[in-house]
Amino acid sequence: MKRKILVTSALPYANGSIHLGHLVEYIQTDIWVRFQKMQGHECHYVCADDTHGTPIMLRAQAEGITPEALIERVWHEHKADFDGFHVEFDNYYSTNSDENRELAQDIYRKLRDEAKLIETKTIEQFYDPEKEMFLPDRFIKGECPKCHALDQYGDSCEACGATYSPTDLINPVSAISGATPVRKESEHYFFTLGACADFLKEWTNAGHLQPEAANKMQEWIASGLQNWDISRDAPYFGFEIPDAPGKYFYVWLDAPVGYMASFKNLVKQRSAVSGQPSAEALFDEFWKEGSKTELYHFIGKDILYFHALFWPAMLKFSGHRTPTRVFAHGFLTVNGQKMSKSRGTFITAASYRKHLNPEYLRYYFAAKLNSSIEDIDLSLEDFAARVNSDLIGKYVNIASRCAGFISKRFAGKIVLPQQALNLEPDLLTTDFMAKASMIGALYESREYGKAIREVMALTDQANQWIDDRKPWELAKLDEKEESLHTVCSIGINLFRLLTLYLKPVLPKLAADVESFLNIPPLQWADAATLLPTGHIINPYQHLMTRIDPKQVESMIEENKATLAPQIEQHSPARHAEKQQHEIQPIAETISIDDFMKIDLRIARIVNAEHIEGAEKLLKLTLDIGEEKTRNVFAGIKSAYEPSMLVGRYTVMVANLAPRKMKFGLSEGMVLAASGSEPGLYILSPDEGAKPGMRVK
Ligand code: 2FM
Ligand code: ZN
Repeated sequence: MKRKILVTSALPYANGSIHLGHLVEYIQTDIWVRFQKMQGHECHYVCADDTHGTPIMLRAQAEGITPEALIERVWHEHKADFDGFHVEFDNYYSTNSDENRELAQDIYRKLRDEAKLIETKTIEQFYDPEKEMFLPDRFIKGECPKCHALDQYGDSCEACGATYSPTDLINPVSAISGATPVRKESEHYFFTLGACADFLKEWTNAGHLQPEAANKMQEWIASGLQNWDISRDAPYFGFEIPDAPGKYFYVWLDAPVGYMASFKNLVKQRSAVSGQPSAEALFDEFWKEGSKTELYHFIGKDILYFHALFWPAMLKFSGHRTPTRVFAHGFLTVNGQKMSKSRGTFITAASYRKHLNPEYLRYYFAAKLNSSIEDIDLSLEDFAARVNSDLIGKYVNIASRCAGFISKRFAGKIVLPQQALNLEPDLLTTDFMAKASMIGALYESREYGKAIREVMALTDQANQWIDDRKPWELAKLDEKEESLHTVCSIGINLFRLLTLYLKPVLPKLAADVESFLNIPPLQWADAATLLPTGHIINPYQHLMTRIDPKQVESMIEENKATLAPQIEQHSPARHAEKQQHEIQPIAETISIDDFMKIDLRIARIVNAEHIEGAEKLLKLTLDIGEEKTRNVFAGIKSAYEPSMLVGRYTVMVANLAPRKMKFGLSEGMVLAASGSEPGLYILSPDEGAKPGMRVK
């Protein structure tokens, strides 16, 4: 059945460059969309720049241009990056559009007048008397009320991790003007999320979210939903709130509406073509309450709150449909660490494109991605090795070994004698064709890593099959002419099927192969057919070059040098800049004997749970290969949701004297890393480690 699907990726802010962290999401989404389109479904992929808010307003001021000029310029930069990485939106729009203003205001009016979910309240905030504006938390700096570190942001301390309200800061200053902020009252508009709790409890538990995300949302709902402040005072770059002069929608109110607005703009373009239904009808089909179409949002796990609570509630209570599924993904680390400007691993899309082929990255990300919200790592060494070995060494190799003979000896003609296909083990072609539904199911469920493994296993089989038949030997013997022709034709057919399976990931390469094979664009259903006898292919042309590690090095060097600090929207996990942290001083030297006294073991986390009354601790049950598991209380509650820990491996101190604690006996200690920034990371060993192995 032909499905009708609308897909979005999160809207990038219009004041910064697209970097590899962003690309994880756009590439993940684009692969999924391409797969749906190859299946013949009606699938629309829309996105836009997220253009409103204080940081964008200030950035434009700093550059001496209007916000409109800034967002216009950045739109073109973003679009070029997406095009470069073959991220193919059906519409790439802007939230600063008429469609978005109308839709945001309309939703707001419905929430206010029909659902009665808008309230006003006077609140007190810091105000910059020089700049004459209220200050978002991120634009106030001062001394941490807890640890007294200087120069901390208004919402949290990077030295001790404390969170607080800006009015708790000691000696606060405005980060914009340096003036001392004053407290000032102002009336704000709130979306009463608390009143939506029943709906959200049900919605977050109804299969729209990944299990980890659903748990997190349930927890948030249980801890009480705060009403959401959706207004900001002038000056603000955004949309004015109806009937509230001088008040603007907070950027996060109109950002997700930007998904709708981009789609609305798309259907306007489509309906302008004669014979199409009206834009209204097309729009309503996808967005009205009761819609039979499917709606999917791909997002980073840091913005789940917005997409799994605010957004469904806004939609539901304004007469719209809610998302079919929200797919959250984890963050990107580079060489096992957060992206860092000083290490040169904060790599922009533009800089990557200067040095390397975007399809290498698409392939590598695909090979690493799955349907969970785990982080993924770009190990640069592994990246080069994997691309070279899989794509050039194995996949392209098949074509280059067979195509030359077909062109030179057989005038480009394919031959597929039926009896050759029926001969064992030439049934390989049938095996390859039969894999379409399994590989398709893996793409559908966003298990791209598994899909790639399947395809690479087939690639190995194809190479083995050719090696066994040695066309280069057959070519030397006149009487083997026929076998040579058949072997190479089957090789080319296997190559065609592999290309089809890789096409969602490697669209440009697939297009090159399509023109080499002289075929129309491959669709998923084409896996049921083969290039027939008599089909003429074009002469083989070089398809892809190996990565030279020097290209990676020069990209890193370039990124070390560039990127002036920029004002970013507050989205903590995206503050990759903060990684230029200072490290704590190294402790006193110890001898090897001292070290050997510590028995470190690999432990598998069998269970993890909250402890009633414990603020910081989680109870972990660990398997280190002993007969009995051990219980350990670990101070990692702030950083981990118990369900995310189960099944993971970590390192524990196994010979630490058991400690009696308030909640029971702790039989060891789990190792975790933390630095000067907030955040705590459980040390997880590489795959391959087994419970009980000693770490030394
Ligand atoms: O976190 C961000 O980068 C936001 N600009 C994402 C917005 S997504 C959507 F809701 F608009
Ligand atoms: Zn502090």
